[in-house]
Amino acid sequence: MGFDLVAGSAHRPYAAPPSVPTILVFDSGVGGLTVFREVQKARPDARFVYAADNAGFPYGALSEPALAARVQAVMERLIALHAPSVVVVACNTASTLVLPHLRAAFDIPFIGTVPAIKPAAAMSFSKSFTVLATPATVARDYTRDLIEAYAADCRVNLVGSRRLAAFAEAELAGRPVPDAELRAEMAPCFVEEAGRRTDVVALSCTHYPLLLGRMKLLAPWPVMWIDPAPAIARRVTQLIGPPVVGHEPGEDEAVAVFTGATGLGPDLRRALSDRGLPGITVEEMPLRGE
Ligand code: DGL
Repeated sequence: MGFDLVAGSAHRPYAAPPSVPTILVFDSGVGGLTVFREVQKARPDARFVYAADNAGFPYGALSEPALAARVQAVMERLIALHAPSVVVVACNTASTLVLPHLRAAFDIPFIGTVPAIKPAAAMSFSKSFTVLATPATVARDYTRDLIEAYAADCRVNLVGSRRLAAFAEAELAGRPVPDAELRAEMAPCFVEEAGRRTDVVALSCTHYPLLLGRMKLLAPWPVMWIDPAPAIARRVTQLIGPPVVGHEPGEDEAVAVFTGATGLGPDLRRALSDRGLPGITVEEMPLRGE
């Protein structure tokens, strides 16, 4: 009797070796880097494509039909180019609107990022918390439904900021805005009414954690800040499993793709490189009156 060296013999059922996934992390700009960092920690073996639709930025200013069409078009192009095994939509403004369309249109899993209203309600002692997001995200039915379902016993302060995402972009591009401007933009997050103070701020735009260090220093009183990125990374591993042991990705296995060349200056390139994205490609997709 010879030795059976073929996997799948009668003695041991054949199990396909786990394959290394390609994970596409997508946002309108650099905000999704806050999610990318956590997902990369959770799956250091994976290949990553970080895609920033900077030609469409800011998504918070687009109408719902325009945003839905834009994300669909960009996603079609990126999926055709990179064949990801999973897509992380690291953008609340997009996720709260387009996830069902994307799931229906493409045959790959999508993981979204939506306001952390349930955790905020659970964490708040004063039962008074803030959802800080883009004006589009705070206006979404999706957000209102989450509040109704999970925070009916709380005073929920919805703050739609017009400028914070751009402040975060400026921060990474080496042009931080002055403290006074940042303080004024975050001021509506802090409410004191009838002896109750906001004690939790749910950062519901992936750009905002890029400003968290400064926001903590400028806050009028200490609060708990929720950055949803670690929870999204956990969701990724739930869905696609733990890292493949023994696969060390090469330097070129994490690439950044931008949809426009404008604004890709040396400071931003350095910031991307420091975050494990040394190579940037531009896949021109101008926003045409969408
Ligand atoms: N980073 C995006 C989010 O999480 C939005 C920024 C924008 O307005 O484009 O909502």
